Amino acid sequence: MADSIVKVENLTKHFEELLVLENVSIEVLRAENLIVFGKSGSGKSVLLKCIIGLMKPDSGDILINNQHILELSLKQLNKVRKDIGFLFQGAALYDSMTVRENLSFPLKRHFDDMTPKEIDDKVKYTLELVSLEEAIDKMPSELSGGMKKRIGLARSIITDPALMLYDEPTTGLDPITSKEISELILNLQKKLDMTSIVVTHDLICAEIIADRAIFLKDAHVAFEGNIDELTKSKDPFLKNFFSHEIIKV
Ligand SMILES: Nc1ncnc2c1ncn2[C@@H]1O[C@H](COP(=O)(O)OP(=O)(O)O)[C@@H](O)[C@H]1O
Ligand SMILES: [Mg+2]
Repeated sequence: MADSIVKVENLTKHFEELLVLENVSIEVLRAENLIVFGKSGSGKSVLLKCIIGLMKPDSGDILINNQHILELSLKQLNKVRKDIGFLFQGAALYDSMTVRENLSFPLKRHFDDMTPKEIDDKVKYTLELVSLEEAIDKMPSELSGGMKKRIGLARSIITDPALMLYDEPTTGLDPITSKEISELILNLQKKLDMTSIVVTHDLICAEIIADRAIFLKDAHVAFEGNIDELTKSKDPFLKNFFSHEIIKV
């Protein structure tokens, strides 16, 4: 049996009378990249928030590393979260801190046994991974949009998470920067052996990153398979969705 890092079983989530997810089940294998597609408002961000325990589903089960996270105490949950990195939509750097301070922050919070030298070395190493060593003493206001995204990415992987969750990592970037960020996500995943769940509606990003994709529609997983199958689907809804995406990018 393949080793799964995330298992979502029959997840249902309402907001009052709005049914966002109904009996959604997904499994993500270790070192796999799963893309989650869906129109705006289809529950993609809600799904990610449930997976990291920021939102409680109405029913269903979520296992991370074979642990039922809905049954954990906050202390136990925080231990599981230590192994999860996330890059949320519009995630901002701390404006009043340098890049070095921004990247040191998660290390100081999670690892109280690291020395200042170890922290600094880890910051430099991680900046190298995103090819921005020279930005170490810059303030966020001195960086371009693409550079900020790279630093945000560096900050979310600096604690060596086994699982990375990305919510629209390329939204708001021009197509070239989008492609660079997508390639960076793929390279980091390979180099660091990470598992990633990437919510996006950027088809170019998905084609670069994906091993497998799911499509959320009407609170359900309407499709599951590889990107090629998805983009070549004869299903009128999917055809329409992807023809619009291709025109947009
Ligand atoms: N905290 C909340 N309270 C009420 N409704 C919410 C909340 N979070 C999300 N929703 C609603 O749930 C639906 C799915 O939201 P979301 O997962 O953010 O969509 P998307 O697929 O665009 O990421 C939307 O209709 C949104 O308005
Ligand atoms: Mg969203």
